[in-house]
Amino acid sequence: MRMNIKEVWEGVGAGQRHWNRCPAVKKNEELIDRCLEKIDIDTEGSIVDWGCGGGYLSRRVGCKKVHFVDIVTEHLEGLGDKNADYFDEIEVHDVSDNIQLDLSGEIEVLIAFSILYHMPSLNYVRGVVEEWERIQPKYILIRSLFMEGPSWESPYAIYFNYLRGNLFNKNEFLSMFPSYTVLLDKPVYGVGGSLNDVHGTFQHGLAPHSSRMLILERRND
Ligand SMILES: C[S@@+](CC[C@H](N)C(=O)[O-])C[C@H]1O[C@@H](n2cnc3c(N)ncnc32)[C@H](O)[C@@H]1O
Repeated sequence: MRMNIKEVWEGVGAGQRHWNRCPAVKKNEELIDRCLEKIDIDTEGSIVDWGCGGGYLSRRVGCKKVHFVDIVTEHLEGLGDKNADYFDEIEVHDVSDNIQLDLSGEIEVLIAFSILYHMPSLNYVRGVVEEWERIQPKYILIRSLFMEGPSWESPYAIYFNYLRGNLFNKNEFLSMFPSYTVLLDKPVYGVGGSLNDVHGTFQHGLAPHSSRMLILERRND
């Protein structure tokens, strides 16, 4: 399974989608700006950008150090040069075989934009969230699609060269974060103002779902 999702994303990368500053990336940059108005981060610190694409969202945050996390090895290799003007320090982490990161120091913010619904199963997402809970960033910024009804898992499928959207209930997702509270939870819209049917979510007669932006803040207790 892991090998398959890596191959899918190598194919997406070959089309340069999300590794150039396409309209979908620009939309996410705007949403990152909205998140930054709500949070208080030390720009001397570090970012973890999970499913980083070209790294554009991290550039927006402006911290000194970034950990770019992705599953396309070849693409990760180019990120250092591409982003050299924006950070003092860049580390890349290939999570195609192992989702545990070897990090040191405090993480100010973890970005997970347009990535959770591309993960292959809710179980996989649970493993990733466990790793985020271990890393303990001060803030976690999320953009994803969430179901308003019960959990739903897509059978593994490739749709327009993407992994078809894997959706799950927002409250179930949030219950995986014992160390965080929700600072912001808002519906957001994609390019053109609607959910993007490239994720294949319209084909299944799904219960209502929405694209949302979440800010989770680490508890201090
Ligand atoms: C839709 S793009 C989003 C890029 C960026 N976050 C943005 O919002 O502009 C998804 C990115 O996540 C990567 N990716 C896909 N599945 C992943 C996984 N399981 N773990 C980490 N990265 C993954 C892809 O290679 C791609 O770079």
